[in-house]
Amino acid sequence: MDRGLLAAGLGVSRRSFLEGLGGVGGSSLLLAGMSALGFGIASAQAAPPVLSGGGGKKVAVLGAGVAGLTAAYELSRAGYDVTVIEARDFAGGRCQTARKGFKLTELGGETQVCDFDDGNYINHGPWRIPYHHQSTLHYTKEFNIPLEVFVNDNDASYLMFGRGTGPLAGKPIRKGHVAADIRGGAAEILAKSIKQGALDQQMTAEDREQFLAYVVQEGYLTKDLAYKGTEGRGFDLPPGPLMNPGPGKPSTPNSFTDVLHSGAWRTLASVSSWEQQRTMFQPVGGMDRIAKGFEGAIGQLIKYSTQVKSLKQNPKGVEIAFVDGDGKAGTLKADYCICTIPLSVLRQLDVQVSKPFKEAIGAVSYALVGKIGLQMKRRFWEEDHHIYGGHVYFDDPEINSMTLPSTGFQGRKGVLLGYYNFGAQAAKVSALSPAERRALAGRAGDRVFPGYSDNIDSAFSASWHLIEHNLGGWAQWSDEARASAYPILCEPDGRLYLAGEHMSYMTGWQAGGIESAWQQIAKLHARAHAA
Ligand code: ALA
Repeated sequence: MDRGLLAAGLGVSRRSFLEGLGGVGGSSLLLAGMSALGFGIASAQAAPPVLSGGGGKKVAVLGAGVAGLTAAYELSRAGYDVTVIEARDFAGGRCQTARKGFKLTELGGETQVCDFDDGNYINHGPWRIPYHHQSTLHYTKEFNIPLEVFVNDNDASYLMFGRGTGPLAGKPIRKGHVAADIRGGAAEILAKSIKQGALDQQMTAEDREQFLAYVVQEGYLTKDLAYKGTEGRGFDLPPGPLMNPGPGKPSTPNSFTDVLHSGAWRTLASVSSWEQQRTMFQPVGGMDRIAKGFEGAIGQLIKYSTQVKSLKQNPKGVEIAFVDGDGKAGTLKADYCICTIPLSVLRQLDVQVSKPFKEAIGAVSYALVGKIGLQMKRRFWEEDHHIYGGHVYFDDPEINSMTLPSTGFQGRKGVLLGYYNFGAQAAKVSALSPAERRALAGRAGDRVFPGYSDNIDSAFSASWHLIEHNLGGWAQWSDEARASAYPILCEPDGRLYLAGEHMSYMTGWQAGGIESAWQQIAKLHARAHAA
């Protein structure tokens, strides 16, 4: 959004309010304020480039993750002769779903074979899709993959903050209670301060009046500007039929001080970022249905279980040396190459590129990430606690969050995500055996749900930094590497183009892989046509 346009379209008081936000909170607060006032920020690319006339030119695509699959699908439709080389014996890259029979052997680890009941699964890679990732949604639509809502926020779910102080620390408290009480308490203080003239210098009387009305509404305040709870927070005795229980008894709010000291309010920002909405999407039946959709269309182009050993290029073409699943060496010659191999893996390969390009490949680090799926004997979170989807947040970083399934509601068993950890804690947990990881997740769950660990039927865990063909969850660009290395990699080196989530500002999202592929194939196509 053009700042000049923004200023021209606003009345003076709104403009100065926004300018004030920019001054105090920097550009992110300014952008949030703009969004709140309806100045939406543009979304990313929503449809693939329309290409035709590939004329049988040969393209080698390295990696059959969603970026490679996208490139192969669109280029082959445009008349290119595409071959995809994939190290695994299935397509999808990180777009995986563990269900009965799915095998995973982490580096230095024992082989896990998922033995969830038929129909149960865990998306241990990508698992939720924002509504504005229109590129991902383009392909779910293209391949007729039904979607369901991924419950990314649930007021009925628990916050488990053991490190806080006061009576609310160390016991599960409903997120909705914390949200209402911290909001009500803060609004009460703000409203009273406004009444006492604290903003008289900063705002006009008219602005102040509107602002106070907003604060009263936002904090559910009474006429005397007090927060005494809110009906939306729930009831100690719910309203019901006839006179028993009749109108019920509203719940009693926690004291503002107790909520503050619990630290649990820290989670409330979790669904306020652009990438995290209260409701998101997931494919019905597992995220790997996206991979299967592509595979159904272009599976015949993929050489599975084939490892790239080197890439050579000259002004006329590329040559990729590989070893196939039978251990046989071979080469693939092509006019161009789209490489989607994660940079964490690519930097270990013999790739003929310029020195700056080679250095840039090594300039990014990858996220340490761990997840565990736990099949539970029964859905106690639904049956006993009335929680249908959403996350339980912990301040214990080994667990970080637990996620209740957004599918199969009211079924018998269910698979929940027992932990989703990052960084040093993910490294620590990944050093444990699968059985130890399951026990760790079970101990954490017992603190929230009595009988949790006794209910664990089966477990499947993944530590992405220990998975051979990924060596990390997703790329994490430092500001410095974004400025120096990333622009180099965005341009082709000779006949080599890079795509993947790492080649985007949407790292850790399938949309980053898809859209980087779209842009690179459009560039490749323009060049092939010009040639
Ligand atoms: N995109 C990843 C997630 O949703 C990081 O958790």
